[in-house]
Amino acid sequence: MGRLGLLLWPLLLLVQICIPASWGLRCMRCERTGYCLQEECAPGLELCRTTVLRVWEGEDKLEVVERGCAHPEKTNRTMSYRTGMQIITLSETVCVSDLCNQPHLGRAPTFPRSRYLECASCASSDMSCERGRDQTLQCRNPGEQCLEVVTHRSLEGSLADEQHSRGCGYLPGCPGPTGFHNNQTFHFLRCCNTTKCNAGTVLELQHLPLNDVQCYSCEGNSTHGCSLEETSLITCQGPMNQCLEATGSAGLGTPGYIVRGCATPSWCQGLHVAEAFSLTHVNVTCCTGNGCNHPVNDVQPRMGGAPRAAPAHLSIAFTLLIMVRLWGDTLL
Ligand SMILES: *[C@@H]1O[C@H](CO)[C@@H](O)[C@H](O)[C@H]1NC(C)=O
Ligand SMILES: *[C@@H]1O[C@H](CO)[C@@H](O)[C@H](O)[C@H]1NC(C)=O
Ligand SMILES: *[C@@H]1O[C@H](CO)[C@@H](O)[C@H](O)[C@H]1NC(C)=O
Ligand SMILES: *[C@@H]1O[C@H](CO)[C@@H](O)[C@H](O)[C@H]1NC(C)=O
Ligand SMILES: *[C@@H]1O[C@H](CO)[C@@H](O)[C@H](O)[C@H]1NC(C)=O
Repeated sequence: MGRLGLLLWPLLLLVQICIPASWGLRCMRCERTGYCLQEECAPGLELCRTTVLRVWEGEDKLEVVERGCAHPEKTNRTMSYRTGMQIITLSETVCVSDLCNQPHLGRAPTFPRSRYLECASCASSDMSCERGRDQTLQCRNPGEQCLEVVTHRSLEGSLADEQHSRGCGYLPGCPGPTGFHNNQTFHFLRCCNTTKCNAGTVLELQHLPLNDVQCYSCEGNSTHGCSLEETSLITCQGPMNQCLEATGSAGLGTPGYIVRGCATPSWCQGLHVAEAFSLTHVNVTCCTGNGCNHPVNDVQPRMGGAPRAAPAHLSIAFTLLIMVRLWGDTLL
């Protein structure tokens, strides 16, 4: 050990003492108010995320940003659509190194001028989807596709959302079709990449043909919503030909939430279930065969690469909703 080494030795000791035992990822945590601090991510959260909502109206822009830790299954995603005179853009990017989601100081982004794919766009918030009044939206990023997203939930207490939306973007589950339905809920996503390929009549569950599969349907816990009496057999529709059974926690200290229904094979993984139902600690199983997701079958759930500790605000639609709620009707 040279002289320098000798000098450094106490310093090294000091460093070793000061380093915490765990080596969790550190991310910036920023609230919508703009208040930021550094946080060490909980075990299982291995990405930093930046979630941005922008509302453009002509040259005016409103921007809301949130930053924090994220589940390792998260991927970059974006969606833009028109509602009324506005263009809503939601995007979420993830990165893997310490504090990689730092805010960049500098000029605020201006509305991107580049134009790529041309897509049909509409939204339930101005009823343009339901009324067949598609507008046109030019995608502003090269990788974006045309999207059609359906998010129906009829359970009491579940948050209202854009039931239908069409626009540009890229979401997990593309190109799809990927979806789920039961007696209360219908989720569907399809993505395509030719001019206005997402135009046409809005996709409704009742227009999808029945397929040959029947599955059990329920949502809730074993006494409220998913008791034996409340669990019924439904006939699956369209490409949703797998019987899904998922369990998870619907919030802190409320484990035992159950979801049953029909799903596409691509929907049989934790990320979609966690996002669609705002669940954490998700366990998903899918099976093929009539009624194979019956409660008493007691199939051994397997972790379908499921998020163990997915943050409740996983869903971009959900994020939008929360943000929209914050501003009330001054915005949308
Ligand atoms: C996600 O987006 C960020 C920022 O645009 C980019 O640096 C990163 O490479 C993207 N990751 C993937 C997997 O596309
Ligand atoms: C589906 O739910 C509705 C109420 O939302 C109920 O009236 C109907 O009986 C249910 N259908 C089945 C097959 O369980
Ligand atoms: C367009 O979509 C098709 C089908 O999903 C895919 O095979 C093709 O690679 C896509 N092309 C581009 C340029 O993304
Ligand atoms: C099921 O949920 C209801 C409220 O939604 C609650 O009152 C009840 O205690 C729950 N039952 C179980 C077994 O967790
Ligand atoms: C998922 O199911 C398996 C098998 O029943 C169980 O051991 C595990 O604890 C469950 N995981 C979660 C997160 O609930």
